[in-house]
Amino acid sequence: MLITIPDVLTVGEVAQARAALDAAEWVDGKVTAGYQAQTVKENLQLPEGHPVTVKLGEMVLAALARSPLFMSAALPLRVFPPMFNRYTGGGHFGTHVDTAIRATATTGQRIRTDISATLFLSAPEEYQGGELFIEDTYGMHSVKLPAGHMVLYPATSLHRVAPVTRGARVASFFWLQSMIRSDGDRTLLYDLDTAIQRLAAEAPGNATEVQLTGVYHNLLRRWAEM
Ligand code: NI
Repeated sequence: MLITIPDVLTVGEVAQARAALDAAEWVDGKVTAGYQAQTVKENLQLPEGHPVTVKLGEMVLAALARSPLFMSAALPLRVFPPMFNRYTGGGHFGTHVDTAIRATATTGQRIRTDISATLFLSAPEEYQGGELFIEDTYGMHSVKLPAGHMVLYPATSLHRVAPVTRGARVASFFWLQSMIRSDGDRTLLYDLDTAIQRLAAEAPGNATEVQLTGVYHNLLRRWAEM
């Protein structure tokens, strides 16, 4: 499932992040890429553990925690500490698949990357190119979102970032391990939750809503890995 989460960060938070990132020292993005991805990756990143990475990462995690849409779509178990990247002057990231298991630099905790996330911090009109292209069985999706919006997509997918030919594309990127490993199962639960929410709004307090809520939680109980 590919899903857009609008307004994860407020306008003020985006401005705060951009001010800190525009003043930070960036390093070559190859440092976190696997063997295949290194050969196609040309961008800049803030190091893991850098004070700005840590501070802004905490801001992103706090924002995710207050997003019901994120919680429903991702059913997160562990979130990799958010990182930050910058593409400019033709920078790009060729077709690759994300590394399946990642360990955090700070605690060494291992995370299975079920879902990939990109949180846009530049407005689309600030740069040319820089679309995130994601392949799935339905074809190719092009993603370029307003600043503060985020896309979640299966980490199993092949994806790439088109060259940025003008301006700079700044974003936060990270992965998460979901309580529900299978993208198909997670999508079913998300669809069911969305339908229950709609039913609750249209006909509050009805017995069907209670029964379906029970089905949702019993499926979650059956499938969740902790
Ligand atoms: Ni990737």
